[in-house]
Amino acid sequence: MKKVIIDVDTGIDDAMALSYAVHSPDLEVCGVTTTFGNISVEEATRNTLQVLELVGGGGIPVYPGAAKPLIRELKEKAKLFHGENGLGNVELPLPTAAPQAVNAVEYMVSAIKAAPHEITVITVGSMTNLAQAIMAAPEIVSLVERVVVMGGAIAVPGNRTPVAEANICADPEAAAYVFQSGIPLTLVGLDVTMQTLLTREHLQEWRAKDTMTSRVFAKMCQVYMDAYAKVGNVRGCGLHDPLAVGVVIDPTFVRTVPMHVVVDTSGSASDARTIGDRRKTPACPPNVDVCVEVDHERFVRHFLEYVL
Ligand code: BDR
Ligand code: CA
Repeated sequence: MKKVIIDVDTGIDDAMALSYAVHSPDLEVCGVTTTFGNISVEEATRNTLQVLELVGGGGIPVYPGAAKPLIRELKEKAKLFHGENGLGNVELPLPTAAPQAVNAVEYMVSAIKAAPHEITVITVGSMTNLAQAIMAAPEIVSLVERVVVMGGAIAVPGNRTPVAEANICADPEAAAYVFQSGIPLTLVGLDVTMQTLLTREHLQEWRAKDTMTSRVFAKMCQVYMDAYAKVGNVRGCGLHDPLAVGVVIDPTFVRTVPMHVVVDTSGSASDARTIGDRRKTPACPPNVDVCVEVDHERFVRHFLEYVL
């Protein structure tokens, strides 16, 4: 079993990623850390506790993290996609467990140091917690097994701006800091996540299954899918955060290319863009394994088998 820490801004696709990870026989979810992004960190923490309890992961500790970017102002939450409460306005029972008293950054550092080369960190929200963890304890760069990031768009358009993806946009300086830190990093960007779609037919299957969890997920994802349709994606919604979990479960779901990637922090029209050097003779050595292709059928099949 691979030990993972998942860093979330729960969010509808974060909720799917958590459920998929909790049910996967290949992963041990050691802890979940929370950050701002789709919603505030307080809402992310509450949603995470609620989702974990819903899917049978109620014993997993949840550590609250960053409330705002490293240096910028907090941006507006992503209401269009995730609803006012982050879960498509679906109301879940109040959590019975409380968040941990230890902060996300402190937890990440101590967990990685306690189990050298064993922990994979999966970030599916703003990268602020991880950046702060590296700043506090640079030695984790060589002690973590790997970092798998849902974020960025290398050869495709962005989703928050014409060129930038939402998780990188949430805190570009944090992302830039992590990318240049030397930490082993796999980038699961829109290049591949927009090819792994959840469709209306899948939601029909969940409704027909008629369990508490399948009904909740069908309702939430309907909101997500309707938002995707409004911005022109009529075939379904992207399984962004679940694919980052999938890549840890089975790296052969994707093909990766080692690349030098930097994050634009210029504040100009290209702000928060992930710029990958795709030339035959790049100027700098690679710092990121970029996912460039995905076996979407095999991944979606695996995801559907375990998510509920
Ligand atoms: C990413 O942004 C968030 O809205 C989603 O939860 C996902 O992590 C997709 O760009
Ligand atoms: Ca997310």
